[in-house]
Amino acid sequence: MTDFSAWTQACQTRMESVLAEWLPPSSIAPQRLHEAMRYAVLGGGKRVRPLLAFAAGEVTGTDPDRVQHAAAAVELIHAYSLVHDDMPAMDDDALRRGKPTVHVEFDEATALLVGDALQSLAFDILASQPLADNAAAQLKMVQLLAQASGSRGMAGGQAIDLASVGKPLDLTELEFMHIHKTGALIRASVLLGAQCGTLSDTTAAALDHYAKCIGLAFQVVDDVLDAETPTATLGKTAGKDAANNKPTYVSLLGAARARELAQELRTDAHAALAELGPSAARLRQLADFVIERTF
Ligand code: IPE
Ligand code: IPE
Ligand code: MG
Ligand code: MG
Ligand code: MG
Repeated sequence: MTDFSAWTQACQTRMESVLAEWLPPSSIAPQRLHEAMRYAVLGGGKRVRPLLAFAAGEVTGTDPDRVQHAAAAVELIHAYSLVHDDMPAMDDDALRRGKPTVHVEFDEATALLVGDALQSLAFDILASQPLADNAAAQLKMVQLLAQASGSRGMAGGQAIDLASVGKPLDLTELEFMHIHKTGALIRASVLLGAQCGTLSDTTAAALDHYAKCIGLAFQVVDDVLDAETPTATLGKTAGKDAANNKPTYVSLLGAARARELAQELRTDAHAALAELGPSAARLRQLADFVIERTF
């Protein structure tokens, strides 16, 4: 096992127990909602956003015991976004992380409420744990996640995605959609992880640039995988973008050019970290991971 895969496994195991601890037990009322929340979050997913938060925390030399709560908050927002993304009113998907989607396993009303409750839990965590060196800095972290999740972040990107069905977007419009629906939470993961420690303006700017590059790259690769990878590998229904008539980097540029673009963004992401030295080693590895992943 490589050093990087040992590190990712350790972070993923840590996240599983942190998330399991934060999620209310399914023995507590309302049992079915709590059961569905745990079903949506636990036992699957690559945990890329937490990995990014831990790696960014290394840049500022932050205690991972702090970062893990910020990482949990972002992962809960991400999990909620997937539950809603899969619902019939959105992408209408039956498979997620190799299991039936929440609205299929439970029901649509429960899936809506799971999203609502996961979002609230994320902000509960971010507000209640001592994550920054002072209250003002922590308040800014709460605001950062709120903006990344809201109508000018992920939710806004999802609105653009739905409004774009059947429309041939140009490259600028497609990029705008992707940096919102996916890039915003990836950026928040990196910045929140770093902000658990103290960072200079130049480091913050470097991390921001890095995060924007890999945030876009992440969704470009997601589009390619949707078109080229079988359902069994993806753990979600392959070919859904074409079936749902979604504009993607593959439909606009073709898979080969989309892959090239992801490589260019990887180069840009590495360049953004050039001044940061060895403390950014994990972030460099994660840029490679985001581009080279197979699911
Ligand atoms: C899928 O995200 C949805 C997108 C934003 C592209 P991930 O590929 O990170 O999904 P999980 O968390 O590993 O299941
Ligand atoms: C999802 O994009 C983005 C969010 C959930 C915010 P996709 O619709 O492409 O994600 P998958 O392919 O279903 O995972
Ligand atoms: Mg979608
Ligand atoms: Mg989808
Ligand atoms: Mg997709």
